[in-house]
Amino acid sequence: MTLDEKLGQLNQAAGGRSKSLNSKLTSDELEKVRRGEIGSYLHVAGAEPLGELQKVAVEESRLGIPLLFAMDVVHGYRTIFPVPLAMAASWEPELWEKAARISADEASASGLHWTFAPMIDISRDPRWGRIVEGAGADPYLGSRMAVAQVQGYQGEDLSNSTTILAATKHFGAYGAPTGGRDYGSADISEQSLMEVYLPPFYAATKAGTGSMMTAFNDIAGVPSTANEYLIDDVLRAEWGFDGMIVSDWNAVAELINHGVAETEEQAGTLALQAGVDMDMTSMVLPTKIKAAVQSDACLAHDLDAAVARILTTKERLGLFDTPMAYHNPEREKTTLLKDEFRRAARHAAVKSMVLLKNEKQTLPLSSSPQTIAVIGGLAEDKLTQLGSWRAQGKTDDVVSLLEGLQRNAPSGTTVTYAAGTHPSSESPGAIQQAVDTAMDADQVLLVIGEDFDLSGEARSRSDIALPPSQSELAQAIFATGKPVTVILVTGRPLALEDEVAAADAVLNTWMLGVEAGNALADVVWGNTSPAGRLPIEFPRRTGAVPHTYSEYPGGRPADPDLSKDTNRFMDIPITPLFPFGHGLSYSSFDYSDLQSSVFEDGQIELSTTITNIGDVDADEVVQLYMRDPLATIARPKHELRGFTRVSIPAGESRQVSFTVSPDQTALYRVGSGWVVEPGQIDFMIGASAEDIRSKTSVTLTHDRSTGIPAS
Ligand code: IFM
Repeated sequence: MTLDEKLGQLNQAAGGRSKSLNSKLTSDELEKVRRGEIGSYLHVAGAEPLGELQKVAVEESRLGIPLLFAMDVVHGYRTIFPVPLAMAASWEPELWEKAARISADEASASGLHWTFAPMIDISRDPRWGRIVEGAGADPYLGSRMAVAQVQGYQGEDLSNSTTILAATKHFGAYGAPTGGRDYGSADISEQSLMEVYLPPFYAATKAGTGSMMTAFNDIAGVPSTANEYLIDDVLRAEWGFDGMIVSDWNAVAELINHGVAETEEQAGTLALQAGVDMDMTSMVLPTKIKAAVQSDACLAHDLDAAVARILTTKERLGLFDTPMAYHNPEREKTTLLKDEFRRAARHAAVKSMVLLKNEKQTLPLSSSPQTIAVIGGLAEDKLTQLGSWRAQGKTDDVVSLLEGLQRNAPSGTTVTYAAGTHPSSESPGAIQQAVDTAMDADQVLLVIGEDFDLSGEARSRSDIALPPSQSELAQAIFATGKPVTVILVTGRPLALEDEVAAADAVLNTWMLGVEAGNALADVVWGNTSPAGRLPIEFPRRTGAVPHTYSEYPGGRPADPDLSKDTNRFMDIPITPLFPFGHGLSYSSFDYSDLQSSVFEDGQIELSTTITNIGDVDADEVVQLYMRDPLATIARPKHELRGFTRVSIPAGESRQVSFTVSPDQTALYRVGSGWVVEPGQIDFMIGASAEDIRSKTSVTLTHDRSTGIPAS
């Protein structure tokens, strides 16, 4: 390969936000491909146009190296599933694996080889808009969800043309920007980097993710795109990651803004030295480092290594052998939005909803004849149900919340509707009309929250209360005195203390994808009991974030007696409004008979019996937490170490078992790495981080270093 051809492989060019390359098939673009100046395109789609382009690359460029086509297929390609935070609320990794499998099938049928997913950034700060794209606050839950997605996208065999390459992102602590402000510096300790933010990346590496994307931000001053320690030492050398690294959009050039490079040449040199292989759109690696590579043998070696990783990735995808395998327009036509995919999306949406409050058995709604008023403009907003990163999702495919309720209402039930307000619009007189509609009904479903544009990239909010138009509507409807169920639409935890207090029931539906309305109807009329659980807590007020159940106890732990000087706020309880792991059911469950044993090899086994003591069949999410009460460094109050979502018919019991490996009890000691310390470990089984039903302790007898992250 010539030096120019090598540099060309590092170039990922933008195909245009139109998501079709048709408009881009200019002679100029084709010439670049012929000259070998492009290694990959992103934001492109279409079996046919991409096939034409691939043909040019393979048949008309000197070396015939195939192109890689990429897109953000984050929670669906054409069949849009619930937003990732909602998928995490299912606490069912298999569900996400299946959704990722379907997304891969659709995307690959449309000519794509590569998705910029899973997004596995742990975040504990709901002000950060991109919290909607990840699995929430917890490294263990996040790791399980990361593995499921990698397996779903990549399948057993990456060279199979129905699978796609995963780009696990954003390495390393993008979810911890200061103040929740997107792109901001993550000023975090080595301890929390290792114990909280990196474990999902380790898990994804072990699951075989074929690529990773670096984060935009810096960790304590070191931009992730130039972080040699993280990429080379931790990811590649310690963890054995052998895939390709892509920068985020323009992030190589932005090393200048970070203040660690003066020129584009320096920026490119830093990124390449750190181990970044492909440059997403900034054109720095492909065009600004040639002279540096010519004069520096080490950099030339880094370039060769980057090119080798890119070519190996193309080979793993089977592109050298069968470059046209992803370009069958017939397959594209018959694959997208199949009925079975829609059914899977409905199933996932049902499983993602979280019943936050349910007083006076307000839900499920009775199927006896009555009038249900659906109030709130979000009820008919289809775009919002597609959420952030909607790939090729189309509003025409979406069953809105209102449509779903109207279509699936039991006979004799009348569903009326008034928009009132929408988060991004108000119309004069609309609230009064909504109040009148509510007054004429027996029950109100008040659909309020955020629209799609309030969460996602660069959508940080300083105040996570309801948008003003929504709280105004809510207050007017609560004042009617009718029984009100809040149907919450959101991409992040919101601070809803007043609304929750005023409502009879609150069902968090997040943003549910193409089958939103049908799934909502399934839950509100009780065809299925909700069983989703919060993957991140809901605060009482914005000022209480960030906060997590797994904080360290501190020397003056919170005390309910507010007169004492302890870890507390003066104005609100320190506990969240709804804790991590919280979610109600139409049934109730008894936990009994917790047993534990420790084996020779240090494996710990725990089992418990769960009985459905209600009168409806339902799922329960059984959660296992751990605490190391005495160690060389303070340990979190609770750490999730296992969970299982189990379906239990009314009146029946199931035994649920967990195996905890000694590595999962390890702690990260700065200077010594991961170690398991001997001594007592407490285990707690419960229905949320604050609803612990039984406890037991085991004793670990030997000290050892594990070398791997604990979750
Ligand atoms: O994949 C995304 C990333 O998460 C944010 N910046 C743009 C990339 C490509 O669309």
